[in-house]
Amino acid sequence: MLRRLITTTALLAAALTGAAGGTAAAADAPLRDLAEARGIHLGTAVTGGKLTGAYADTAAAQFGSLTPGNEMKWGSVEPVRGQYSWTGADRIVDFAEAHGQRVRGHTLVWHSQLPSWVSGGTWTPDALRAVMTDHVTTQVTRYKGRVHQWDVVNEPLNEDGTLRQSVFGATLGESYIADAFRAARAADPAAKLYLNDYSTDGVGAKSDGMYALVRRLLAQGVPVDGVGFQAHLILGQVPASLEANLRRFADLGVDVAVTELDIRMTLPATAEKLDRQKADYAAVTRACLAVTRCAGITVWGFTDSDSWIPDFFPGQGAATPYDEQLNPKPAYAGIAGALAPVAPPGPAGCTATYTAQSQWGGGFTGQVTVRNTGTAPLAGWTVGWEYPAGQRITQAWNAAVTQTGTAVTATHLPYNGTVPAGGSATFGFNASWTGANPPPAALTCS
Ligand code: G3I
Repeated sequence: MLRRLITTTALLAAALTGAAGGTAAAADAPLRDLAEARGIHLGTAVTGGKLTGAYADTAAAQFGSLTPGNEMKWGSVEPVRGQYSWTGADRIVDFAEAHGQRVRGHTLVWHSQLPSWVSGGTWTPDALRAVMTDHVTTQVTRYKGRVHQWDVVNEPLNEDGTLRQSVFGATLGESYIADAFRAARAADPAAKLYLNDYSTDGVGAKSDGMYALVRRLLAQGVPVDGVGFQAHLILGQVPASLEANLRRFADLGVDVAVTELDIRMTLPATAEKLDRQKADYAAVTRACLAVTRCAGITVWGFTDSDSWIPDFFPGQGAATPYDEQLNPKPAYAGIAGALAPVAPPGPAGCTATYTAQSQWGGGFTGQVTVRNTGTAPLAGWTVGWEYPAGQRITQAWNAAVTQTGTAVTATHLPYNGTVPAGGSATFGFNASWTGANPPPAALTCS
């Protein structure tokens, strides 16, 4: 719970001075700061070769975590058996460290972007297992202490939730997953180890398969720390069960993360579609925030000029929070708005002001206004005063008023006890007087 409360004074100040609950001013803060203040990481996939100029500046300023889009895949780092090439991956890890960012390592074992010596090889189970665990051990050791989370196994399942018959699944069965995780744990005990897949974002056959798989692995003592939900989504189709799905995995005792978020639309992008996309990005962000074990959100490329969508889905695109010229789109505001700081309950406080409104021989009508001077809503109020000249309340409205001797106590009624910060409530009364009708010297309000 605590992690959901803002801790950054500057962000809170921005929130309190901004309009509409502070989102306008707070949205000026970088996404990475807004996210950290809410207890999650906001990351992006990047292309290492583009990390210069405005692209680099935006990636550094806005995102607290980087994922290499391609540079850590098996085909990139070990194109030839036993010959590793770390240049592309190093560039991103070095950049992240220089800018105080975490790294999500993506990915150690995946059926795609494999070097042909693996995908086209003829393997005995033992030989493939040895090659796989060598690869995992070498890569995780290389970045020990520098990669925060690893997608150890990526996309292990078919659409119906059964084990994908990749070279790994077909040759080794489900056991390859346990072996990969154990090798990764041994190589870097501090790294968080994730199982990652797509189309598992909502509750359904594939996510049911993933859920059952994670349970089996945990029951075997396999060191699965987290489950990644890629969330390659379609405009207007954020699964209604996203939050519930994240939560059911979290309830298994693992972290969850949205690892490859993008929300594609049929081109051209229109103002209406971009607005819908803003709402969709906000909904995904809120779902993660609502689940305590959701570690963070990574967008799969932060700019439309660096997105896989147009190449893979002809006629679709505009899927990321920035346009091709690196201008933030409404989606950016959607994320920022959802991440806007939540003010902790502030000190309670109220004042009461007393007015004698009209007076006649022996009687008068008075009114008291209760003002909430705190930063949190009042959940009820009680006002007290002493009459200096024997006045007596005879009738009251909008408060329950009692008088004992000279002491008057007025308490809210069921319908006007809640007073928002800065708001007020008013009650009135009739009273009698003789001789003089001076106002009370002071009123208490609590
Ligand atoms: O590097 C070559 C370049 O030399 C060549 O000129 C060019 C010609 O097409 O291709 C370049 O390689 C491309 C590579 O991205 C780097 O840009 C590959 O063709 C292309 O297939 C590859 O696509 C990547 C895709 O994974 C492969 O499946 C995307 O960039 C990458 O964003 C995408 O990421 C995956 C995640 O890893 C797993 N989840 C799904 C996600 C989207 O497909």
